[in-house]
Amino acid sequence: TKPLRLGIAGLGTVGIGTVKIIQRHAQMLARRAGREIRISAISARNRKRDRGVDLSAYAWEDDPVALARRDDVDVYVELMGGENGPAKASIEAAIAAGKDVVTANKALLAIHGHNLALAAEAAGRVIRFEAAVAGGIPVVKALSEGLAGNEIRRVMGVMNGTCNYILTRMEESGLTYDAVFEEARQLGYLEADPNLDVGGIDAGHKLSLLAAIAFGTRVCFDAVQIEGIGRISIDDIRRARDMGYRIKLLGVAQMTGRGLEQRMTPCLVPADSPLGQLQGGTNMVVIEGDSVGQIVLRGAGAGEGPTASAVLADIMEIARGCRVSTFGQPAASLSEAVPAATSAP
Ligand code: NDP
Ligand code: HSE
Repeated sequence: TKPLRLGIAGLGTVGIGTVKIIQRHAQMLARRAGREIRISAISARNRKRDRGVDLSAYAWEDDPVALARRDDVDVYVELMGGENGPAKASIEAAIAAGKDVVTANKALLAIHGHNLALAAEAAGRVIRFEAAVAGGIPVVKALSEGLAGNEIRRVMGVMNGTCNYILTRMEESGLTYDAVFEEARQLGYLEADPNLDVGGIDAGHKLSLLAAIAFGTRVCFDAVQIEGIGRISIDDIRRARDMGYRIKLLGVAQMTGRGLEQRMTPCLVPADSPLGQLQGGTNMVVIEGDSVGQIVLRGAGAGEGPTASAVLADIMEIARGCRVSTFGQPAASLSEAVPAATSAP
């Protein structure tokens, strides 16, 4: 069987984590996929940077679009990030050149996911994005494959580890929001634009992707009601604790009689519930299906190893020939999402 040949654009936290797994587990991956997983070419901004791994065996492209079009690339792996710019242009170029795509880019998919899925399907290709939601937790596959026989009632959870860290740290230390925010910045937890984290936007991107899969609608990020954690005070946290609750930035997506409800807002959750017990930078996703009942998935939502683990899940799925459509059903069959807040009562 022919090797599956990858072009990886982005050699930061997730890209290098992906290279490391492929190097460390080459034989295991080949055994499991029934074919070699081979990196043909790579791209990043700075060719000279020492990234702590040997990259000398791979061809280098300065331009991710050129990488995406290479003849020796079967799967284009986009790990640069960014809602537009080279990430979008290179994914479009990959699809047009007949490549499958793997990406961790939730910001891009929350805005352009539907159109990219349509383009990919028209070209007979797939886009995979397990790493875009809740890092190492295989929640995209759980919803689109493992729970494909269920009508999904509700998806909810904590999907931004940085916010969960800030809220739990405030409670255990008694420090103010501003002090813990500064701590999180120094620890390198915050996105380059911190408002993506604390403003609830990053978590809203993730919720919109899960909602599309769960309810068979087009991704509708604009309709997510978002409130961040910036106004949570230490007094709010103490009052919640005294009543037996904790404050979590909680996402909830459910189909109501009035349309699709998507909320990402600070909520009170019972302190002794699984969500209330969630500490530090961890993520948790709770799914309710009509046949399966409630499923709780918990794990690392970010970081080199966990996120690269999810990227590998997608690569392996493609290597094994699985062609499940991007959002769990053909993109053209996804209905327009009617946001509950704006639909008629
Ligand atoms: P990093 O900032 O660590 O790495 C980004 C990489 O992209 C760098 O190697 C950078 O090059 C490269 N890059 C940026 N712009 C260009 C460009 N124009 N051309 C070529 N290369 C470019 O990001 P992460 O690894 O943290 O994130 C990557 C993706 O994964 C993002 O979409 C992010 O949202 C997502 N993600 C990240 C998680 C995490 O825990 N970090 C968790 C889940 C998803 P150079 O190194 O030379 O500057
Ligand atoms: N900033 C994100 C978080 C990274 O804190 O969860 C993973 O998507």
